[in-house]
Order: sequence, then structure tokens, then C-alpha cells
Amino acid sequence: MTVTSVKEQPPLRPKSNAAQARDITILGIESSCDETAASILRRRADGTLDLRSSIVSSQDKEHAPFGGVVPEIAARAHMLKLEHIVDKAVTESGLGYNDIDAVAATAGPGLIGGVIAGLMAAKGLAMSLDKPLIAVNHLEGHALSPRLSEDCPFPYLLLLISGGHSQLLAVTGLGQYTRLGSTVDDAAGEAFDKTAKVMALGFPGGPNVERWAQAGNPESISLPRPFQGKPHADFSFAGLKTAVARAWEASDQSGKAKADISASFQRAVADVLTDRTLRAMDMFRATHGHGPHRFVVAGGVAANTELRARLDQLCIGQNFKLFAPPLKFCGDNAAMIALVGAEKLMLGQIDDMDIAARPRWPLDQSAAAQNPKSGYGKKGPKS
Ligand code: KG4
Ligand code: ZN
Repeated sequence: MTVTSVKEQPPLRPKSNAAQARDITILGIESSCDETAASILRRRADGTLDLRSSIVSSQDKEHAPFGGVVPEIAARAHMLKLEHIVDKAVTESGLGYNDIDAVAATAGPGLIGGVIAGLMAAKGLAMSLDKPLIAVNHLEGHALSPRLSEDCPFPYLLLLISGGHSQLLAVTGLGQYTRLGSTVDDAAGEAFDKTAKVMALGFPGGPNVERWAQAGNPESISLPRPFQGKPHADFSFAGLKTAVARAWEASDQSGKAKADISASFQRAVADVLTDRTLRAMDMFRATHGHGPHRFVVAGGVAANTELRARLDQLCIGQNFKLFAPPLKFCGDNAAMIALVGAEKLMLGQIDDMDIAARPRWPLDQSAAAQNPKSGYGKKGPKS
């Protein structure tokens, strides 16, 4: 079935204390994990966007010897790189520092050292330019990321899958999130990274598993599909990760084994994510009516080609229109942070200079209150 029309909501309108409808220019800064990023984004008075620059400097080389992100190394690398990356973003934009109307930076959730480094840089710049500071939730950046490349009005169902988080949310407006499901243990990206680590495929894990999977048989290894068919929309990846480790130990550890296990693992993750999304689609329909509706997949794992194809098929059958950001906006970037900054500035949502960095900052505050363990970090589920 093809979706022909999707009910649209009017674009965000500024409130009385908000920026009046005029072009605004935002400097965005991102430093919550292992990418140091800065971007200049113009939001025109009519709500359309002009992305002037988006610089992303990966720390892959720094972390590769350890097979994962080392928080202390990440924080130090951000501190060393930030000034240069921001300068590059401003230069490439063709604009000057004086054209910036506000500085938006990720204030959490994430690795606290890195978040502090980015937020401090943003505070310094905002003060010296005498412009407002906007503290952005990194997850909200991912949630709005499809809007960097196409019009995607609220409301929509969101599958947010990254290295630190896995959740399904109903997104009804800026700052308005209802959690429908989340992981009870590991994040989807974490499962990819750990699978890669077990077989020494290299860091970061996701793209390497995907590459090996292309040469493998996805039916060759029997792996579990945690929570498949359950009435809730939660996920679990810990059992899958353990099953991969066992399969690897039992194999001859050849190149063929790497390819077959990668392909079988990727198929299992795609099965689980599409099954859980199907359940969340039912929940979304129960609140928002029959549809057609919009479905957004965002976060680093959304770059996975097999998963995108499977979600595309699911959406066609379920009367949802799929919005999947281009690969450059799936992983961490500062354009998505600048975008949230622009929308917040339009609503007059600016922050005080004493705002603190937050290692945990759930999008859905009410679900977080019911489950205080939820959030980002090494302790508790990566939901
Ligand atoms: O959103 P992101 O860049 O950072 C976080 O906010 O966590 O996501 C990074 C995660 C990593 O776990 C990485 O292995 C995974 O996204 N990833 C992928 C692919 N590209 C990146 N997972 C599966 N397939 C990919 N092609
Ligand atoms: Zn992210």
C-alpha cells in the first residue's frame, strides 16, 4: 500500500517572548560521545533551513586500540579539538561570528567529560558574543534529525537507535515525547559494537559488522530474537550478545565464520527492531487514529542498510511514511543540535549560564520518573 497523504500540523509559531519571525543563525556544538562537531545553521523566517556548515571530527583513531570509547580520552580530545572545529564551521559557513544569533550545545545525556567540554566552550562563546545559550538534549537532536533534509511535521513515531540508547517514542511537538518502549539492558548500537569486539572486526562496530555481513549467510547461525511477539514494545539485546559470543567460541573463527555470524546477528537485530516497531505502531494508532502516519528512524544504527530496507517494507504494509535521515545525519553531528537550538530559540527557550551538564537526561520525563534507572550510562538500561 502506498501512503498518498499525511495529515500535516501547522509549523511552529513563535510565542510572545520568542524570536520574531526572521532569519536566525545558530552555532551548534556536539561533544557527548566520540565525535567533536560544530555547525552553522540558518533557519529562515518561513521555517525552511539553510545548513551552512556541518563539521564532524571523529575520534575513531584514538579509541580503536581499546575497542570502544574511553571516556577520559574522549573528553581530552574534545577539549583539544573544539576551538578548531568551531572555527572551521564558522569559516566554511561563509558567515562570521557576529552573524550568530545563539549558541546551542549538547548538555546531555552522554559521557560527562565530553559534555562539559562542549557546554563550557558554548558558554564562553555565548558570553563573548553576548548572545543566548541554548542547552540541547542530544536525543532531541536525533529525534529532529530527519528535518535537516526533508519536511517532517509532528506528530510521528520515532525509533531512536544509537550506541547509548534504544527507544520507541511518540513525538508530538518540540520537547513533547511519550515513550512507548525502550531497551531493558543494552542499546542496539552497543550490541553491534560488542559483536564486533568479540570477533575483532574493528572499531566502530556497526559499520564493520555490516561490511562482514554482506559476505555471510544470515540463516547460517541460530540466534535468539528477544521479546519478539511480546505485547509491550520494549527491547532486549543482552541475550543476543551472549549468543553471538558462544557462536564465535564454537566456530572455527575463520573469515567465513565472521561473515556468517555478522549476517545472522544483523538479521536477528533487524527482526527484533521491526517486530518491536510493529507493536509500537499499534500503540501509536491507538492514540493518534488510523493514519496514514509518519515513522522516523534516527541515531547511528539507522545507518544500517538491511535495517532501513526492512523498516521501509514494514512502513509500506502499515500505512506509515518512512523518514530516514541521510547517513551523514544518522551518526552524531552538530547540525541536529543547531536545529533544536533554532526551534527552541523560536519558542523563547533559552538557558542561564549556570546550566549544568547532565550525564542522564531522558526525553520522556514521566517515563523516566517511573523508571529512575533509565537513561544513559554504564549503570542501568541504555534506554
Ligand atoms: O548516534 P551515534 O553516532 O552515537 C550515539 O549517540 O551513541 O551511534 C553510534 C552507534 C555505534 O554503536 C555504531 O556502532 C552504530 O551507531 N552504527 C551502526 C552503523 N553505523 C553506526 N550500527 C549498525 N550499522 C551501521 N551501519
Ligand atoms: Zn547520538
